[in-house]
Amino acid sequence: MFQTRMTEMLNIQYPIMQGGMHILSTAELVAAVSNAGGLGTLVSAMFPTVEELRQEIRKTKSLTDKPFAVNITLAPMVRPVNTEEYIDALIAEGVRIVETAARSPEPYMKRFKDGGVTVIHKVARTRDAITAARVGADIVSVVGYEAGGMPGLEDVTTMVRLPATVNAVKIPVLAAGGIADARGFLAALALGAEGVVMGTRFVVTKECPAHPKAKEWFLNAKETDTMMIVSHTLKDGHRYLRNKPAEEFHELESKAATIEELLPVLAGAKGRIVWEEGDINVGVASCGQAVGLIHDIPTVKEVIDGIINGAKAILEERLYPLVKG
Ligand SMILES: Cc1cc2nc3c(=O)[nH]c(=O)nc-3n(C[C@H](O)[C@H](O)[C@H](O)COP(=O)(O)O)c2cc1C
Repeated sequence: MFQTRMTEMLNIQYPIMQGGMHILSTAELVAAVSNAGGLGTLVSAMFPTVEELRQEIRKTKSLTDKPFAVNITLAPMVRPVNTEEYIDALIAEGVRIVETAARSPEPYMKRFKDGGVTVIHKVARTRDAITAARVGADIVSVVGYEAGGMPGLEDVTTMVRLPATVNAVKIPVLAAGGIADARGFLAALALGAEGVVMGTRFVVTKECPAHPKAKEWFLNAKETDTMMIVSHTLKDGHRYLRNKPAEEFHELESKAATIEELLPVLAGAKGRIVWEEGDINVGVASCGQAVGLIHDIPTVKEVIDGIINGAKAILEERLYPLVKG
């Protein structure tokens, strides 16, 4: 059911991917997604050394025999200086799918192709999807304005961004941003996606290592509780769940702060405290508008089964009767 070019190319059961989620995408979460038939994704940037990435890949492989991906976020502040070594390590460990993001994967495409890696490049602009296809990405995922993380600076929602991108490239397109349930999944397929990428929904699952207080914060949030921060300093847009540090970041940006002024607010350690200790007022937390659609803390398998079974039910009970008259 719901077999697409994504499931065929990646050899997975359902066209559902967990996008990279920094320190939250641990081996346990990633393996849970892959074991449930989707595609889990580790994030290379969370490992200060190549050896630590290797260890987490090995741990993930001990928890699942299904395919999973490694994210390489190529933004200058996030990208490891020795990106090539990280790529060589993941290939040596047998990973055959990467999610690249934030900058063009072009400088690394030869390395990926020589290593037999399928490249899913995540973009926030239609023109970047066209570039990704031109430089040889196999799949492109396109992020709408609703998304948690970095939805870009163009303010175009998934509803428009996705079909515009599907029109623009021939490679398979995945939809990211605003999808948290069967309705969003089916809508994305109707708009031409070959699958979906979710982040925010997977934060609020049993296997996600976020602190219970952080999960509760997400659980109680409405779709109006995120804020988009346009960062001229970092040359990107960021969507966070609204809190004091996010307001401070916004305030600093409106005063054209320097990177030195921003770093204490954004520092990775503070984000870690949110996720690891549940102190939700010390750091920023990436979060999409789909947070307003999340009302429970299920297992990852329950999320994925719920989407697949729910989509089938929507087709049978709601959409097919509409066309049968
Ligand atoms: C808590 C969290 C952390 C994230 N960290 C990363 C990351 O490290 N690298 C990345 O490319 N995307 C990151 N993202 C973005 C997701 O991979 C995905 O593109 C996005 O969450 C999809 O939109 P949604 O939140 O509406 O589901 C993160 C998202 C969340 C919610």
